[in-house]
Amino acid sequence: MGNIVASQSIAFQPAKLGKLGLKNRIMKAATFEGMTPNGAPSQRLHDFHQAIAEGGVGLTTLSYCTTEPDGRIMESMMWLHGEIEDKLREMIANIKKTGAKVSGQVTHCGHFSQNKDLQGDQPPKGPSKMFVGIGATVGRFIAPAMTQADIDHLIGTYREAARYMKRVGFDAIEIHFGHGYGLSQFISPKTNKRKDKYGGNHEKRMRLPLEVLAAMREEVGPDFPILGKISMTDAVKGGVDYALGLEVAKSLDAAGVDGLIPSAGTSSYNTMYMFRGDSIANGMIAMQKSAFMKALFKVMGPLMWRKYPYEPTYLLEAAKNIKAAVNCPVIYIGGCSTRKDIDGVFEAGFDFVQIGRSLLKDPGFAKNAEADENYDSGCTHCNYCVPLISDPGGIRCVLNEEKQSA
Ligand SMILES: Cc1cc2nc3c(=O)[nH]c(=O)nc-3n(C[C@H](O)[C@H](O)[C@H](O)COP(=O)(O)O)c2cc1C
Ligand code: SF4
Repeated sequence: MGNIVASQSIAFQPAKLGKLGLKNRIMKAATFEGMTPNGAPSQRLHDFHQAIAEGGVGLTTLSYCTTEPDGRIMESMMWLHGEIEDKLREMIANIKKTGAKVSGQVTHCGHFSQNKDLQGDQPPKGPSKMFVGIGATVGRFIAPAMTQADIDHLIGTYREAARYMKRVGFDAIEIHFGHGYGLSQFISPKTNKRKDKYGGNHEKRMRLPLEVLAAMREEVGPDFPILGKISMTDAVKGGVDYALGLEVAKSLDAAGVDGLIPSAGTSSYNTMYMFRGDSIANGMIAMQKSAFMKALFKVMGPLMWRKYPYEPTYLLEAAKNIKAAVNCPVIYIGGCSTRKDIDGVFEAGFDFVQIGRSLLKDPGFAKNAEADENYDSGCTHCNYCVPLISDPGGIRCVLNEEKQSA
């Protein structure tokens, strides 16, 4: 009886993302997996997405995909280039045999980089010359401002990435416009202080992101879904606030994205705002080998990561405002751990849902949530998985590891 009620939810019904048919409305969120040593996709990455696809999601998302080597935050991130093309094509084709579709999140770090293995003769640049904390950790304190030639080059790399992604078999592209990465640095008044046509007011700050979207659209055509992930607020003084976040969503909607993913916070200024739950400091402390580094993170942790207690579907109220303001589909993200959370999202009128941590805890989330209306993934939002992006083994749920070793 429970199962009959359970399967009626629209979450588990087929749906269309633009022209792309999906078997249901549950998507794996972009979570940089840390499984691309030397920038190449590994068997571990393949197995990770295969398990999630077999677990029943309609679409899985590969992250981090960047457009050029210097678009990486760290050396272990993947950039889209010829040498890995066959491997990527094979991996995507295998995952698609499960019936799930495959998207790739395209991100460029802009000035938010601690990559030491730089290919160009310039340090990472952003919209305006400024101090960058993450750069300072590798001795680069000031990031220069991009010139017009840099901007033209960047747009060209996104264009090339779009062509590449369609060619290797991705079903969709998710452009990262949020979280403090390159395009979000242009959108945010906190980091964009330009006085030329790329800064000064909202329309000008949106110029580069919209030029990137237009270039990618030109390459893939009108029928290939392009999604946009945004920060509804940067959650930092002087950055995008909720009112401006609405304008960002409206601008991207008007420019023809096939779906919006309204997240919040930035990796650069306020990471915990996007995750909620226990501080990332706990996981950072656990990962450190030296007693000195453990002690340092114990002292610095509370200063680096603010407290935002976890609440189920913690971005729902804010995301409803986005849903009401745009015409394109809206994909809810943030704090879906149970079947009840999913039901709440679709009752609120959202078109799709993306899930991050709970799919690490339970790759079978989609099938299990469909079968049981009392389903709970068991993710405790401890956030130990987050710092594992820089662990050689990549991200995983530490609770599952404890279970295996018990
Ligand atoms: C380990 C990890 C890595 C992440 N990496 C990315 C990323 O590469 N790009 C991105 O947009 N968001 C990233 N996120 C954020 C998630 O996409 C999502 O916004 C966040 O986890 C909240 O959703 P959840 O409550 O379902 O986990 C990451 C999250 C985790 C846990
Ligand atoms: S480590 Fe596991 S339980 Fe903790 S937040 Fe990540 S997925 Fe959830």
